[in-house]
Amino acid sequence: MISKRVQNMSPSQTLELNSKIAKLRQEGQSIIALNSGEPDFNTPPPIIEAAHQAMLSGKTKYTQTPGIPELRDAIARKFRRDNQLIYSADEIIVSTGAKYALTNTFMALCDPGDEVIIPTPCWVSYVEMVKLAGAIPVLVPVHPDNQLDMEAIEQAITARTKILLLNSPNNPTGAVYPKKSLARAAELALAHDFYIVSDEVYEKLIYGSTPHISVASFSEAIKARCITINALSKAYAMTGWRIGYAAGPRDVIKAMSAIQGHTTSNATSFVQWASVTALDGCDDYVETMRQAFEARRDYLYERVSKFPGFRCPLPDGAFYLFPDVSDLFGRKSNNRTIDGASALAEYLLEEAGVALVPGNAFEAPRAIRMTYSNSMENLVEAMDRIERAILQLA
Ligand SMILES: Cc1ncc(COP(=O)(O)O)c(C=O)c1O
Repeated sequence: MISKRVQNMSPSQTLELNSKIAKLRQEGQSIIALNSGEPDFNTPPPIIEAAHQAMLSGKTKYTQTPGIPELRDAIARKFRRDNQLIYSADEIIVSTGAKYALTNTFMALCDPGDEVIIPTPCWVSYVEMVKLAGAIPVLVPVHPDNQLDMEAIEQAITARTKILLLNSPNNPTGAVYPKKSLARAAELALAHDFYIVSDEVYEKLIYGSTPHISVASFSEAIKARCITINALSKAYAMTGWRIGYAAGPRDVIKAMSAIQGHTTSNATSFVQWASVTALDGCDDYVETMRQAFEARRDYLYERVSKFPGFRCPLPDGAFYLFPDVSDLFGRKSNNRTIDGASALAEYLLEEAGVALVPGNAFEAPRAIRMTYSNSMENLVEAMDRIERAILQLA
């Protein structure tokens, strides 16, 4: 019998969608995939070269569990340079992607029954990770403009609140949270004695005037209550390399290291060496990708805002648009009724050949997520196809 812990998990809607796409492609259908959460660019060549050299020079053995000191030092330099945060190497742990850094954080901090406040819409894995750690996800919707509802967050705080989870720039909305909201979150954490886990994996992908701010940088007091999560996955087009990290109070990082030592051990040795090269010398590549994403965001936003029944604020970061499509609910095409975001995603996949992710996956069933991490040519074709399909709805 499979454990209750696993039985309690929701199936991954993104994985189910991928097998559907594969099946349709096998049947010969042309599918433009705007569902994935990763850059379409290749990893910058100097990073690949550094990994190759590390392998050739025998850097293929176990490393220290929290990561090689050279990488933790490079991460500390990055925090100082980009986030005005001073961390030493023993306040940093390198993990197998941000995903494991986050899982590890919840395992290290949560006891059964502890509550984790998660503003929604939110990334698919948060709720499951929190449940796996035995804690209780407390979902708090954001405002219609996708900005944090600080009053609702305050009302959700109880004596069991252990963590407030923030993700800016946000997946799936693309929202970037301004200083005022982050400062209020910090005040609440200090007043009610809980931690803030700040997932900053899209930090480098910002297009608007709101700058990225690490909430830990406000004061020494809040830094002692923050675990900042980041990764090389999105910024450096390194999703498959599986490299992420966390920085926080020494005791928390030590606990995470103990868990990691008994579960995954270190992140891949030569990937760690390549990551030093990425963090220290690949800003130009990151900026080139950011500019390409910005041009695509502008194009997609212009098209999508003209589609009947699609409503969304201009996203300031990440590489997603997350329009509310609830005005289309109840519309029909032949025998099919669009009775929700999943039905719309299914319709667009089967009739238009464009894969999008229904908002249900992100605790937001009135919306649908489209990724602009695809070539401009594919985006133009995908928008034409969606527009035709929407106009056919009666
Ligand atoms: C908000 C957010 N956090 C974390 C992750 C996981 O990143 P990684 O691939 O480094 O594990 C993702 C990936 O989609 C994400 O969107």
